[in-house]
Amino acid sequence: MNRIVFLLLLIGAMVPGALGIAQPPAANYDEAKVPAYELPDPLITAAGAAVDSPKQWQEERRGEILELFRGQVFGRSPDPVEVEHRVVSVDKAAIGGKAVRREMDVTIRRGGRSLTFAMLVYTPQTDAPVPAFLGLNFQGNHTVEPDPAIRLPAGWVRARDDGSTDGNRATDGGRGNSVSAWPVEMIIDRGYGLATIYYGDIDPDFDDGFENGIHALFADWAESIDPGQRWGSIAGWAYGLSRALDVLEADPLIDGSRVAVLGHSRLGKTSLWAGATDERFKFVISNNSGCGGAALSRRAFGETVGRINRSFPHWFCKNHHEYNEMESQLPVDHHQLIALIAPRAVYVASATADRWADPKGEFLACFHADPVYRLLGTDGLGGSAPPEEMPAADQPILTGRIGYHLRSGGHAVTPYDWEQYLTFADRHL
Ligand code: GCU
Repeated sequence: MNRIVFLLLLIGAMVPGALGIAQPPAANYDEAKVPAYELPDPLITAAGAAVDSPKQWQEERRGEILELFRGQVFGRSPDPVEVEHRVVSVDKAAIGGKAVRREMDVTIRRGGRSLTFAMLVYTPQTDAPVPAFLGLNFQGNHTVEPDPAIRLPAGWVRARDDGSTDGNRATDGGRGNSVSAWPVEMIIDRGYGLATIYYGDIDPDFDDGFENGIHALFADWAESIDPGQRWGSIAGWAYGLSRALDVLEADPLIDGSRVAVLGHSRLGKTSLWAGATDERFKFVISNNSGCGGAALSRRAFGETVGRINRSFPHWFCKNHHEYNEMESQLPVDHHQLIALIAPRAVYVASATADRWADPKGEFLACFHADPVYRLLGTDGLGGSAPPEEMPAADQPILTGRIGYHLRSGGHAVTPYDWEQYLTFADRHL
């Protein structure tokens, strides 16, 4: 090696930053080190006017905020296209006879290409259409219930959280692995349906330059979009959720006007974006969605904009990378993402040990979305007035249209979380 290059490398290794190579700052978990910040006001228009009527929110301000999230955070998605669906299997006595289980293939066709995702649907044994939850799953529909009839995903699958992998191919070994996150019997017993889709069927979760999965179907359309604003994977998954809702709306066993969208972690970021962009979702649930989801970016606590964009360059649009380590420059923050859901019901759940997702930032986003709910004539967080303090662990806030809890424990969806979602759904769906 050339001696000068060697010397430079040595200095670089010994003194981080000495060569002007940006080192990502260590994740901050100290509340005292959260930077001072000023949040963009959801109720002040771009022109500086105060929004003082529901009409002005709906016709002017909401659209401004949505545009900023499209252009600077998640990217622009194509207009809806028609979908086809086909029921591929039915079990009229699933879940010990309590439910009907159906598997459907949902196909989106465009320009000679097509994309098919499998949707697994459970409904209780009743003649009347039921309200339902719709959510993406991480490992395949076959992981939701240990039922040998549920098909394995046909395409790309991710490594499991314990690091094990089937070589990007699903095997029966994962069957029933995610039952704790999907308490189907509890949901059925409470009178709700459940529809779930493996997220990798809609868009594989790796950085391929926005080319595979749903992005491939719309490649020519994406060419017409400013490269900084092209849709990332979160927008792609959310688009898939909306196409699934098209199918559920036409389903005789489901009441399409009472569908909740839910997701955990990156899929919680996705459910928020789906709820923001598609007002047909009557209830939106974010479980431990953190940075890019319910957490305020400006707090830079735990995961930051820079970290998420570097680790997952395909989740957001390219413009979002402009704000790495520059959160204060973002024209929006994530309380406004929650406000985009108003006046519909929204529930944000955090977990005590999930500091990476910034539980306090998630609570504060709900708190700062509250004025929009109130302007629209509904209760926001906590009923007649929002609580000043974050609630203690396991003390859910279930009054008002914004629900929130901090569960004891780690980054997961648990039956405790579902209990709260079901209670909230009983009130708002
Ligand atoms: C990572 C990522 C988070 C994300 C999570 C998940 O931890 O940093 O932003 O929510 O993965 O989706 O599991």
